[in-house]
Amino acid sequence: MPAAFAPATVNAIPTSLVTPEGLPALMRGLALPARTWLEAQGFGAKAGQCVTLPSSEGTIGAAIVGLGDANDQRRGRFLAASAASRLPAGIYRIAEAPPGISLDEVALGWLLESYRFDRYRSQSPVKAQLVAPDGIDATRISAIAEGEALTRDLINTPACDMGPADVEAAARTLAERFGATVEVTTGDALITANFPLIHTVGRAAAAHRAPRLIDMRWGNTGPRLTLVGKGVCFDTGGLNIKPGSSMGLMKKDMGGAATVLGLAHMVMALGLPLRLRVLIPAVENAIAGDAFRPQDILTSRKGLTVEVNNTDAEGRLVLADALALAGEEEAELTISMATLTGAARVAVGPDLAPFFTDDESAASAISKGGAAVADPVWRLPFHTPYDAMIEPGMADLDNAPSGGMAGSITAALFLRRFAPARYVHFDIYGWQPAAAPARPKGGIGQGARAVLQALPDLLNL
Ligand code: BES
Ligand code: MN
Ligand code: ZN
Repeated sequence: MPAAFAPATVNAIPTSLVTPEGLPALMRGLALPARTWLEAQGFGAKAGQCVTLPSSEGTIGAAIVGLGDANDQRRGRFLAASAASRLPAGIYRIAEAPPGISLDEVALGWLLESYRFDRYRSQSPVKAQLVAPDGIDATRISAIAEGEALTRDLINTPACDMGPADVEAAARTLAERFGATVEVTTGDALITANFPLIHTVGRAAAAHRAPRLIDMRWGNTGPRLTLVGKGVCFDTGGLNIKPGSSMGLMKKDMGGAATVLGLAHMVMALGLPLRLRVLIPAVENAIAGDAFRPQDILTSRKGLTVEVNNTDAEGRLVLADALALAGEEEAELTISMATLTGAARVAVGPDLAPFFTDDESAASAISKGGAAVADPVWRLPFHTPYDAMIEPGMADLDNAPSGGMAGSITAALFLRRFAPARYVHFDIYGWQPAAAPARPKGGIGQGARAVLQALPDLLNL
């Protein structure tokens, strides 16, 4: 469930955000008992440290939240956000904050921290809520928090309840809310509609979890933006099966789909002046008698043939057909998001969203966007000399080059063979391994806020 701002009320608890440098001044403004109380609590304005002060009636009269020093702020983001989990239930308002602290980030962090995945819980704890601070763009921040909550809910939902049909249902629910249209091609219809790779990867799944291509459109005017998300609802690895330790988290292998749906939510909720298309190949990479095999050679929608050297490199296969479809219509920009390779995680870890593009201006807009909204991204190269690694000889392309060198780059180069010209690809992790401020453990969107922030630059909006 997305968290929302509390309605403004006169009783909202005044909350001071304070750094260690600002603490002496704050202390001087307090009455002696309050000062003594802060000292007794060992309050040093460390990042995320919270204390409350009683009113004369014994209710919570004020709250003080530590932001840490400049080093803490360099090392972390959304440092004020942990207050949303640490403060007692109640309605809070920001009464003071040091100069240079972005209240938009504080407010967004509070909402993102308040996210809980409660679908399988009988009770949801009561929360510390925040009144939208004056001067922030509350509509925008709410839209972002809602989009991110959608992404997290979709990733966190286990594969038993988040198969291809459930991803379709989620896309339809989203479309209905914003007046978008959805077309879906399912099962054997994928063969006649010429999505052979999507069909091949997904055909071993049970009938009620049949593969499909979801095609959502919204908006009538403005530049065209096409988002493509990897929707592998569970990745067993197929016949080249994953070891149990690698399969453990593979419910999140639809993280790209979840992230583009979250981004679509943001775009539509804000009514951005563009024409949006969202393409999601939704499949389960399952094992059965009709599963595709190592060394099968497949002919893609685009006509390029692919030798399957590992059925576990399935994401690039389903994305290839979706990207080919994207390219059949002139869009100003196509962006894919996918939990595509373990190599991306090895290269940059779970906190950074690696992205690829040949478009310098798009790269700088996305990097700037990410920095502005605390959504760290890092550009990796479409290093063309490595194209040789994805060309096996037996077919046009190899889905899993041997040697294991530059795995994220070779996967990206594979996608580039199918993608339209102005193209950005994110190889995201989609999972927060340990709770951090504004990022509870579990499914997480990456890159969506960076892209949203960059859209005016990317599309001349
Ligand atoms: N979904 C995985 C990639 C993945 C694994 C992302 C772990 C995040 C965390 C993908 O389908 C996959 O299995 N990729 C293989 C490709 C290889 C066989 C060429 C990989 O990265 O090992
Ligand atoms: Mn795989
Ligand atoms: Zn996968």
